[in-house]
This record gives sequence, C-alpha cells and structure tokens, in this order.
Amino acid sequence: MTRIDARPLRLHDFEPQVDDLCAQVVAGLRKPQKELPCKFFYDREGSILFDQICELDEYYPTRTELSIMRDNIDEMCAVIGERCMLVEYGSGSSLKTRILLENLRDVAAYVPIDISRSHLLRASRALAKRFPIEILPVCADYTADFELPTPESDVDSTVVYFPGSTIGNFEPAAAREFLHTARLRAGSDSGMLIGVDLKKDPQRLHAAYNDAKGVTARFNLNLLARINREADGDFDLSQFAHYAFYNPLAGRIEMHLQSLREQIVHVAGESFAFREGETIFTESSYKHTLDEFATLARESGYQVQRVWTDPQKLFSVQFLVST
Ligand code: AVI
Repeated sequence: MTRIDARPLRLHDFEPQVDDLCAQVVAGLRKPQKELPCKFFYDREGSILFDQICELDEYYPTRTELSIMRDNIDEMCAVIGERCMLVEYGSGSSLKTRILLENLRDVAAYVPIDISRSHLLRASRALAKRFPIEILPVCADYTADFELPTPESDVDSTVVYFPGSTIGNFEPAAAREFLHTARLRAGSDSGMLIGVDLKKDPQRLHAAYNDAKGVTARFNLNLLARINREADGDFDLSQFAHYAFYNPLAGRIEMHLQSLREQIVHVAGESFAFREGETIFTESSYKHTLDEFATLARESGYQVQRVWTDPQKLFSVQFLVST
C-alpha cells in the first residue's frame, strides 16, 4: 500500500506485470485466429483516446447512459440506500460516478478499480478534492485475482458499479464468471448497478465503432504501439487497418486489426507471419436484449430488480440483487 498524498487516499496496488502482457500477447498471436486481449487497450494513451471516443457524436452509449443516470438518479439512490460502499470496476475518469456521489446519502466509501494507474490516480485525486469521503483506489486487472480494501467507515451495503456496458466486452462465459466473482468479492448480499448496451439498428452500431474522425481507429491501433513499447514488438502501424463491423448472429460488434500486406512481425523474440487481409481480433462488444441480459444475470447469481432506459431504448442501466 502506498500513501500517495496528504489526503487520506491510499492506493492498493495489484498492477499487472509487463511479463503478464508479453505472455498474453504472444499466446493470442499464436492462435489460428490471432487475437489480443481488449483490456490492453487502456494504457495512458489508450485511456485518453477512449475518453475522446466517449465524446464522439456517433458513440451514443456514453451520453445516453449519462442521460439515463441524470433522469433517474433519485430512484437509483433509493435502491442503493445509505452508507454504501460503492465499488467501481474500470473507473477510468469516474465521470458517471460523480452523479452518484453527488446524490447518494452519506456514502461510506468509494473504491475505484482500474488497470491504468496514472488514470486511476488522476481521477481519484480530482474526486478527493470534490468529495469528503473515503476513497480507496485499487490498481488492478479486475479480471484477475485481487482483494477489495476494507474501509475505515461503517458500511451498511456494498454496491458494485459497472457502467459503460463494459460487460459487453466479455465473451458470454467470461461475463458470467466476472459477474459471479464480483458478487462473491462484494458479499452475497451486495447489489450491482450496471450499464448494458441494447440491440439496435446495425447501421447505428456500425457508425459508433467507425467514427468519421478516426478516433476509434487510433484507439485500436494504439494496441500495436503499446506492444511495440512494452513487449519488444516491431509492428509497422501503417501496415494495419482498423476494421469493425456488427456480427448479427453473434449479436456483437467485432473489432479487428487487418494486415494490409503479407508481413512478418516480431514480438518478445517470436516471429508471427501475417497474410494480406488476415486480422487480429481485438474486441467483442456484445449487445443484449433486456431478456437476454436478465438470463445472463440469473445464470450469474443475480436477479434484475430495476431497469431504466432512454426513450429510444438504445441503452439501459439496471440494478441487480444477489439471489
Ligand atoms: C469499454 N467498452 C464498453 C467500449 C465498447 O463500446 O465496447 C470500448 C470501445 N471500443 C471501441 N469503442 C469503444
């Protein structure tokens, strides 16, 4: 544990090692359909690019989720209750959290969890200046093993906050595993407030992941720049292109990086051959119907207690309780 400034802000550090990144990158590139874990998007540059994605006209999830939060914040606070410990997975800039922290009664503690330490510390410091509550930042890959810190304040309930529809970035079995583990970690009487993106017109989805300014393309390609830096790679970024589309059978957006020519790339001392047009699968972003998500929640030990949506039913925020 590191004391990071004069305020009572204690960092719990489970930051993944560079070795983890190398091993997972090499394992993904060895597969017949090459793939890279989407969690590695979020280094400093990737986190900044993701924040820019959230501001794009085409990227409807962020502003729609924010409007759902603003329109229904009283009901959300009522189901969460008083003296809660709010545990946020993938807190990033903690923007949506501010709405909760401004409106919840007597918050006991806020635990932001993020893989990007610099982003986590910046956001936590900004929140600490604004909210006189116990903030316990955790730097961790939240899909790996880590423990929640114990707050000094008395806690009546623990609520996991998982906004942004990041649940859609997990394959279905991994989504169930994640929800199940998050529930066990928070305690079997905990709740979860979660953002879930909904199925909709494929053209709208396509536009959201193929923005006109090319920010999503830069976000995708940044993964290769990161591998070059951190896993001794020699990807030529000009020889790969962003490729994203909606796969209606799987119900997901797929993001890939497509090789523009036949080429050999080296990573961590290994060679990887690419055919022209071959892709590296970098991210799935599953979209759900309300019924599909209720089934996923049930299979993970949760029951959907409340659902809030926008008038166009683009996005939902849902409160889950343990069963
Ligand atoms: C973080 N996650 C929910 C985003 C999504 O929409 O799946 C990541 C993203 N990828 C491209 N644009 C945004």
